[in-house]
Amino acid sequence: MGMEIRLVHVDRIIDLRHAVLCRGRHRKHAHFEGDVESTTMHIGAVIGKHAVGCLTILDRPFSKEPAWQLNAMAVDPLYQGGGIGRSLLSFAETRLRQIDTYQYVWCNAPVSSIQFYEKFGWVAVSEEFAVPYTGAHRTMLKKL
Ligand SMILES: CC(C)(COP(=O)(O)OP(=O)(O)OC[C@H]1O[C@@H](n2cnc3c(N)ncnc32)[C@H](O)[C@@H]1OP(=O)(O)O)[C@@H](O)C(=O)NCCC(=O)NCCS
Repeated sequence: MGMEIRLVHVDRIIDLRHAVLCRGRHRKHAHFEGDVESTTMHIGAVIGKHAVGCLTILDRPFSKEPAWQLNAMAVDPLYQGGGIGRSLLSFAETRLRQIDTYQYVWCNAPVSSIQFYEKFGWVAVSEEFAVPYTGAHRTMLKKL
């Protein structure tokens, strides 16, 4: 069965988020603020009904300007390094350009993934700051 990148319901990606982003904590921590807002988009890399990669896009301002926020990106460790992260990011950016609402997309990236985002034209725009449980992060920004 082939892999497909598409919009998914949040229920489809909770197990993956739990395994990759909050392993060892209660499953309820894999539900994030804004998940069920009408403007939120969940994008999955799915094989049949099984998600192996995901990200979420939220309507959240950057520096007081309306913007999109990328959140909770995760790729199943068995599939990391196989191009799924690249495909998810490209799908999301293409969709946001098509929607053509806001000029910028931003995220709070763990320092371990900053170079991943830089590869795709994102720029770090903050100093490092600590996020409970998940360590040091920097805010990253891309013009769509
Ligand atoms: C970061 C992550 C999303 C990348 O997804 P992935 O599917 O492994 O990435 P891809 O295979 O599409 O990689 C695309 C390119 O980025 C590079 N890359 C991937 N992860 C990287 C990282 N952490 N640091 C630097 N480069 C990275 C790859 O080597 C590849 O480069 P190439 O095109 O020159 O070969 C994934 O590894 C992950 O889920 N990590 C754990 C959770 C996490 O940190 N999430 C980020 C939250 S915002």
